[in-house]
Formats: sequence, structure tokens, C-alpha cells
Amino acid sequence: MSAEARVKFLLNGHPQEVPCEDARILLDLLRDDLHLTGTKRGCDLGTCGCCTVLVDGRPTLSCLTLARLTEGRSVTTIEGLTPPQGLSAVQRAFVDLGATQCGFCTPGFVVTATALLEENPRPTRAEIERAISGNLCRCTGYIKIVDAIAAASRSSG
Ligand code: FES
Ligand code: FES
Repeated sequence: MSAEARVKFLLNGHPQEVPCEDARILLDLLRDDLHLTGTKRGCDLGTCGCCTVLVDGRPTLSCLTLARLTEGRSVTTIEGLTPPQGLSAVQRAFVDLGATQCGFCTPGFVVTATALLEENPRPTRAEIERAISGNLCRCTGYIKIVDAIAAASRSSG
């Protein structure tokens, strides 16, 4: 009988090693095994963006990612984007500008927006819209979300 399969990666900056079957999906590993429920399960089909996390800094749909493929890589969830002293600039802007209503989509948008601003600190509205095109929101109409990301970009540096 083979040894139990495990995956070893950096999770929100901390080394993590957990049991992981070959077919385990990253979203299930994060939510069900590691209890990081900030990453949401929406469609489970790769279409809503609710499950977005960063893998080596790049927005990644965790519902479509095999957990074992994160071996040796860095995974950041919404929990890892919240500084100990309070909200990040993106999170603060979402709250201040009313860019969140039911909130179910919000972690995915915040993760995507954080990656965008890391790569492009002063995006145009068109660039913001393009970056969030894989994230769906059924409440806000998107305008306040784009406003919030633009505000966060102005508030940093
Ligand atoms: Fe992954 Fe919808 S739950 S894209
Ligand atoms: Fe409800 Fe976006 S705030 S789905």
C-alpha cells in the first residue's frame, strides 16, 4: 500500500503540508480541509470567479485546480490579504464605496483586484473591467466595484 499522498505548499505565507488525494480540488482542500471559507463556492464550473485565489500571485480558479498542482507554490486566499491591523486598501474601498451587497462575490473580486493593482498600480477603467471580467456579481451592477478598485489604486502610494 502506498504512503498517504500529501501536498506541501505555502498558504498565506505559512508552510503547509496536508493529506491530498490526487483528484482533490483546491477549493475543497481550502474550504473543507483547512476551513478557509472566505473562498466561496459559486458555480463549481469555472464561470463565476467566486473561488478565485492567488497561486504564485496570479488569480486562479480554485474550483478548477487540482490541489496537488500547488506543490511547492504559494497560495494566497482572501484571509491572507487582510492585514492584522484591519482592511487592505481594496477591502476598505469596497466597504467605503458600497461595492458589496450580499457579499458572496466579494472575496473573489478583492483577490482579483489585488493581483491587478500589484501588477498595474494605476489601471484605467477599461483595464479594471477587463481584469474582473471573469468575476460575476448579481447584485451591484459592477459600477461601484470598478469605482472601488479605481479608488484603491489612487489610495496606494
Ligand atoms: Fe469556481 Fe465559480 S466556483 S468559478
Ligand atoms: Fe451579491 Fe456580488 S454583492 S453577488
